[in-house]
Amino acid sequence: MNFQPAAISGDRVSRAWSGDMIAPLSDRGQGTAASFVSKTFDHEGAGLPIELFISALGLYRCFINGTRVGNDVLTPGWTNYDDRIAYQRYDISKLLKPGRNRIEIWLADGWYRSPIMWGAKAIPNCWGDRIGAIADLVGPSGPLLSTDTTWQSGPLPILKSGIYFGEIFDARLENAAETHGVERLPFDKGLLVAHETAAVRELQPLAPIDSWSDDEGRTIYDFGQNAGGYVRYRVRGAGGAEVRVEHAEVLGPDRHFDNRNYRAAAAHTLYTLRGDGDETYAPHFTFHGFRYARVTINGNAKIVEIASIPISSVPEPAGGFTSGNSLVNRLVQNTIWSQRANFVEVPTDCPQRDERLGWTGDAQVFAATACWLSDSQSFLSKYLRDVMADQREDGAVSHFSPDPTRLHPADFPGYAGSTGWGDAIVVIPWVLYTHYGNRAVLSECLDPMVRWVDFVWSISDGPIVRPPSHWGARGFTFGDWLQPVGDNRKPRPTIADDCAATIYHFISTDLLARIAAVLGEEALEEQMKRRAGEIRLAFANEFITPAGRLAHNDQTSYALAFLYDLIPAEHRQAAQQHFRKVIIDADYKIGTGFIGTPALLPALTKLGMDDLAEKVFLQEDVPGWLYQVSKGATTIWERWDSMAPDGTIYEPDMNSYNHYAYGAVCQWLFECVAGISPSPEAAGFAEVIVDPAPIPSLSPVSAYHDISQGRIEAGWHCTGSEITYVLTLPEGCVGRFRPGRRHQNPTLNGEPVFEDAVLPPGTHRLVFSLPDS
Ligand code: BGC
Repeated sequence: MNFQPAAISGDRVSRAWSGDMIAPLSDRGQGTAASFVSKTFDHEGAGLPIELFISALGLYRCFINGTRVGNDVLTPGWTNYDDRIAYQRYDISKLLKPGRNRIEIWLADGWYRSPIMWGAKAIPNCWGDRIGAIADLVGPSGPLLSTDTTWQSGPLPILKSGIYFGEIFDARLENAAETHGVERLPFDKGLLVAHETAAVRELQPLAPIDSWSDDEGRTIYDFGQNAGGYVRYRVRGAGGAEVRVEHAEVLGPDRHFDNRNYRAAAAHTLYTLRGDGDETYAPHFTFHGFRYARVTINGNAKIVEIASIPISSVPEPAGGFTSGNSLVNRLVQNTIWSQRANFVEVPTDCPQRDERLGWTGDAQVFAATACWLSDSQSFLSKYLRDVMADQREDGAVSHFSPDPTRLHPADFPGYAGSTGWGDAIVVIPWVLYTHYGNRAVLSECLDPMVRWVDFVWSISDGPIVRPPSHWGARGFTFGDWLQPVGDNRKPRPTIADDCAATIYHFISTDLLARIAAVLGEEALEEQMKRRAGEIRLAFANEFITPAGRLAHNDQTSYALAFLYDLIPAEHRQAAQQHFRKVIIDADYKIGTGFIGTPALLPALTKLGMDDLAEKVFLQEDVPGWLYQVSKGATTIWERWDSMAPDGTIYEPDMNSYNHYAYGAVCQWLFECVAGISPSPEAAGFAEVIVDPAPIPSLSPVSAYHDISQGRIEAGWHCTGSEITYVLTLPEGCVGRFRPGRRHQNPTLNGEPVFEDAVLPPGTHRLVFSLPDS
């Protein structure tokens, strides 16, 4: 596989631009027709290498002599545009011809100025109200052509476009003339940085697996897979005929097309035909989250071919997991698809409704899974820069990044500072360090981490965090968001949010101590260790009864407290029994929300309660991971109960069928079930901790993960109570196996193992028996 551009390295390197940021004078503002800027120019040096450096306010697509430059989508990408704007670089030598040439740059609203944020909170013109382009064409002896006030502009056949809105395109207006000039915009070129991650790309098209007509004669296509992207079709018909495409993730009962969960996102395209033979259309400056498309034709036209085109910043997988259970295999695929759909420039909550924001909590719980499933290093490093740019003066980290509310504080006070969400600034760099050995990201984020941890300390009380329950109040937390307890239609403060907030306070403080140690920041390490110790003591005092029961007797509290070693030795046995009872009392159904869920199975595995982990993971009722798979999900749902057993949609006001957070269970599949984890002591997979915790009913298991050194493969099968585990490590990667309670009578490559064993690169066979439960 190809590894993505190296991650952030500290300094921002800008280039010396000759061009100006120019705005088309044909532009009439947000929500109106898109415009192009263009220039006809002479070029004599045929065959010389020529590069194009290009960026925009808004989104752009560039054409030279009518041919599109590159195949990147949604360029220049999405960043906190007031902090950084990405530029791209293309080799355009082959697109130029001797003599007359023409460059045309299409510009549209994109994230920059189409309404962002949900419902009535939507902010149009968030980063600015003028679209514009900047470009330099550079040959061996310097700039050949640059954007300046001699360029021309004109309106495009894109009559309206927006991230949530979709796109309206009238093909009769193609080849529109240059009607206007351009204006030079005041612009700080120092904002321009080379694209920090790989550009968004199209994946393989998905052909429909079914189609039918509804009562009103509209055709519904089922592409078989929920994805983020758009529909591309070929159509034939009369000029002026119209094709409207609407999108949906699910069908209600009776195959009823239902996209009420898109809320205010129109998420449609409308194409008017030229009428001169086959015409192919896909929107240029938007995307949707969908599995189904409903096509309405107005006038005389016929769809000849149609496909769903998924897009992603991480199109290539870097990991896979299969087992003897097809529902589990599908769950992993669903996670991969949810990652693809939501890794479009920014790690978003969902790709379909009027939200699609880079929620920090979702990203932090999913970060490790993201790294297992695709090379996410540059993508998440870039995201951290957005998160850092949004951090408030007092250290509070935004609920989402890029954060439109930061630029409009009077209208949107208090969109920062939730535990579990803001902790992204500590957790994600650590994940990037362990997975990729990336120390630079730790250094770059160190100060923001300290400010975050200090912020949480400042809202704590001795040092328990007691979050206020009102949105916007200082220290408000989303808690264990969407915990499946009671009526969560309008999510309220979840139970135990003080406990969860205090645990997260501990997690980040403790991690910061470890990060300080890696960076050789001894004073900080000591300070944070001390603080973590104080939180640990206070936690035990506040939340653990003398008999060893947690004051909040719920799965999230137990899972997090055990996973992060917050239960003192004297209480562990009793607390473990209570944990067990809580799960049995719930009939092995999940009781955790966004932040408890990723901890649940790892905590059970850590405690050796493999029987419970197996039952909770494999039960197919709601709430449970496999319920949604058994209901035909092809991506991960936002809520455990997003769809009722009879197929009805639970709550269209906040219900996405493509939210990766609960897919974070894949981390457990790799690290516990397949038994491979990156060792923080030798980061970047220089060393792999080998500690399989087999779930016999999943046999046979096979996992792989591509790292820069090569491919790691781990798998096992179970015969009776005997496990045969086979591991292959590439050069530059050693394994470390420490026999544990669940590895009885282990032999490694035929020899008994009694203590820590180091496994050199190559293939190893480990055989052991599972203990009687
Ligand atoms: C988003 C989430 C997010 C949450 C905050 C929702 O609207 O879709 O995924 O984390 O709000 O709790």
